[in-house]
Amino acid sequence: MLSGLLASSGGSRAWAQATSPSPPAGQGLHSLFVASGKLFFGTATDTNNINDVPYQAIATNQSEFGMIVPENSQKWEVVQPTLRQFVYNNSDVVASRAKANRQLFRCHTLTWHSQLPQFISTTSWTRATLTAAIQAHIANVVGHFKGQCYSWDVVNEALADNGTFRNDVFLQTLGTDYLGISFTAAAAADPDSKLYYNDFNLETIKAKADGAVAIVKILQSANVRIDGVGFQAHFNVGQTPNKTSLVATMERFTSLGLDVTLSELDIAHTKLPATPSALEQQSRDYVSAVDACLAVPKCLGITVWQFTDKYSWIPSTFPGKGDACLFTANYTKKPAYFAVSNLLVQAAAARVQAGGTSAPASASPTVATTSSPTSFTQGSGTAAASPLPTSGGHSLLEAITAKGLGSFLLPLVGVVFLAL
Ligand code: XIL
Repeated sequence: MLSGLLASSGGSRAWAQATSPSPPAGQGLHSLFVASGKLFFGTATDTNNINDVPYQAIATNQSEFGMIVPENSQKWEVVQPTLRQFVYNNSDVVASRAKANRQLFRCHTLTWHSQLPQFISTTSWTRATLTAAIQAHIANVVGHFKGQCYSWDVVNEALADNGTFRNDVFLQTLGTDYLGISFTAAAAADPDSKLYYNDFNLETIKAKADGAVAIVKILQSANVRIDGVGFQAHFNVGQTPNKTSLVATMERFTSLGLDVTLSELDIAHTKLPATPSALEQQSRDYVSAVDACLAVPKCLGITVWQFTDKYSWIPSTFPGKGDACLFTANYTKKPAYFAVSNLLVQAAAARVQAGGTSAPASASPTVATTSSPTSFTQGSGTAAASPLPTSGGHSLLEAITAKGLGSFLLPLVGVVFLAL
């Protein structure tokens, strides 16, 4: 069991770590994150775990996860496996689960070198034909989910680790023009969805972050809309960037007018089984990442890339590594879960003490009308049992405030004082 103080690495705050972790009853990570001024704490999920009852009990608990993203079922090879044939069976299931559970739906991903259908590599593309193929793909997929996606990862992993562009079929055929082609097509197909560039190692490799800044500037100078950058945040225990450095990297993008998120957070052990001290290090690493997002007003949310080791992609992709999630394969909460929860309890209470309800600078997703089949009738920890007020142009956080955020938060202050 963890004990003592967990210092948030690189930061000035020290967060009390309860010896017997006990987050306020019923308050999951999303509820606490919203109470801390953020938009969502979410998870990747998909249809492969649909019949796993204990899994679903957690995945559909909107207090725990207020947003879901399909781990695989919206990728190009799944939705357009053969040219011009679109298949939405699985992705529609994930979308309707989000709607049924009043969770935000984050959409992933459009132009990406990986998980492409075979016809992409077997076709001899010209500039005109590949442009048309990207445009048709994006128009169809984004159009299919129009109004349902809080955001789209429009371009994924366009960079090599040294910051140069990844030498894939898109670059070879179109140069960097495929960036603008993709974002322009996505904006046309769903003007209300936030459009993101998403990549890994931006957090740790400066040259790669430089490359992502260049991508943003290419788009902005062409007057093409980009709303945010997703930091995938696939980290290793003991090698996670500290809070100060993560904040500084995020601010490179927020200073360009963008939102940021931690879009695929997991923190893998490099030696298994994890020792008690490795579990403590994993807790500190999760706290660093979440605390960094708390410190950046335009870091709007965090998504973990699965919440249980049972379905984590890490062991099969990186043999020898694993146990990267907040819950064990048996759905037991790990020390890292409690460390994050305790951090958020304190962040929420600090927000109340500071006068309490200021929203992140740009957290203003549209909450659509309930009559729309594609509305964001998203719940939150403050109103888990009833839909939020829904009216066009209504900010989600305003809606939460209207539901009485202050009265929800006051008991948390007491919890924090007890913990201290
Ligand atoms: C991974 C999935 O988790 C795996 O199930 C799949 O086999 C491969 O892709 N970056 C991304 C995600 O943007 O889509 C990837 O997801 C992980 C890395």
